[in-house]
Amino acid sequence: MSASLRIGRRGPPVVIRVDGEPVPCFAGESVAAALFAAGRRRLRKSPGAGEPRGAFCLMGTCQECAIRIDGRIQPACLVEVRDGLAVECRGASEPAG
Ligand code: FES
Repeated sequence: MSASLRIGRRGPPVVIRVDGEPVPCFAGESVAAALFAAGRRRLRKSPGAGEPRGAFCLMGTCQECAIRIDGRIQPACLVEVRDGLAVECRGASEPAG
């Protein structure tokens, strides 16, 4: 087993901004994991049909999670959160209720 495997331990709490709203999470998590933990499964809309899209592979292959992070389109599953990180999921809000 890898010595770097950290099961059951979390990094210190940080806050990212998602569409301007604060989302608490933990250092070391990916943006996709932090958003999923916060109840946000819809990350963007497809450019053609406008269908909601979310993380699928969680390893940087499918690009379904590509959203604007710190001003650049990046796969949310490969970007680690840090305090104050700006994330945009505009137009992909979760349905009410
Ligand atoms: S979920 Fe597939 S690239 Fe991020």
